[in-house]
Amino acid sequence: MQYHTFTMLAFGLALSVASSAVRADEKVEYGQYLSGSCVTCHQLSGADNGIPAIVGWDKEAFVEVLNSYKTKERENKAMQVIAVGLSKEEMEALAAYFGSLKPKE
Ligand code: HEC
Repeated sequence: MQYHTFTMLAFGLALSVASSAVRADEKVEYGQYLSGSCVTCHQLSGADNGIPAIVGWDKEAFVEVLNSYKTKERENKAMQVIAVGLSKEEMEALAAYFGSLKPKE
């Protein structure tokens, strides 16, 4: 019984250590999953075909810009509608994913 409790504790500890190590990667992965609704307009290559490039940005700046659409400080209707539907966690995940991409020259 005691041994079992110890095993469970050790397992739980190992899990929590492992999960903090992969948290950053998980964010990028979650962002990649969410990015499906962005890449119909924004180019992953970083090309600007009339719609601005959003890859390789600083994470804080990325979240700030999305919030400025959410609060309607920035005027674009399409982006306002999109940003209103995003939680803070989703914005951060998107920032992590797009920020991890390098624009192709
Ligand atoms: C319907 C097309 C469309 C979709 C879908 C879309 N965007 Fe946009 N996005 C735009 C346009 C157009 C602009 C430029 C708006 C402006 O002039 O303010 C823009 C601007 C931005 C900007 C600011 C770019 C800059 O240079 O200032 C960011 C960041 C951004 N979008 C992120 C996203 C994210 C993240 C998603 C997915 C959750 C997304 N967009 C989905 C069309 C779209």
